[in-house]
Amino acid sequence: MDHLLQYYAALGIKAGASLPEVKLAYRRLVKAWHPDLFPDDPWRQMQGERRMQEINTAYQHLMGEFPALPASRPAGGLGDDAYVIGINEIDKQHEIFLKMFEKFRDTYASPSIIIVDKDVKMKIYLYILNMRRYVFKHFMTEEEYMIKYGYPKYFEHREKHDEFLKKLMGLEDDYYTDNQLSPNNISDIISSWIAGHIKMMDQEFGRYVNDIAMV
Ligand SMILES: [Fe+2]
Ligand SMILES: [Fe+2]
Repeated sequence: MDHLLQYYAALGIKAGASLPEVKLAYRRLVKAWHPDLFPDDPWRQMQGERRMQEINTAYQHLMGEFPALPASRPAGGLGDDAYVIGINEIDKQHEIFLKMFEKFRDTYASPSIIIVDKDVKMKIYLYILNMRRYVFKHFMTEEEYMIKYGYPKYFEHREKHDEFLKKLMGLEDDYYTDNQLSPNNISDIISSWIAGHIKMMDQEFGRYVNDIAMV
């Protein structure tokens, strides 16, 4: 078996687990196995020492896997570190969404005019629909992490997700009828939401997870 896989197995987590997941698993195992927990039981103390050796080795090697991650992120534009919240799976999804949005903005948002061409309108409608579907998938992932880590602001955060989904659905409907905003206006709405939500609320959640996963 690959050494890395062994290390993940030693911590009882799936391969490719995020940094907070590795830290949380390590902290839980130390609490369960530290030899000082068994002062009156020499046999369990020995087992604890052995287990701690496995756990520490795995943890040190897995931690060595993480420092390289920020360097792989694209520099500049919307993909800068202000959007990195420190949970790998979520950061990857944010990056994909930011790229989708950038492509929309670069393709349709300039000049700032109302689109009348039916084919272009349909393309924009489908683009917004696909973004909304991706955003929904992303929100489900983010909310799953919030439940898993017992995030106290889960309901408040989920409400903001719902607001944005409703907003995107409204933009879709508008595009399907003849009531639509210009692509430039749509771009402004999405980019201010990205700046306000990912940079503020998602960052706050990332700090919470990384804090509780600290050893
Ligand atoms: Fe997010
Ligand atoms: Fe969020």
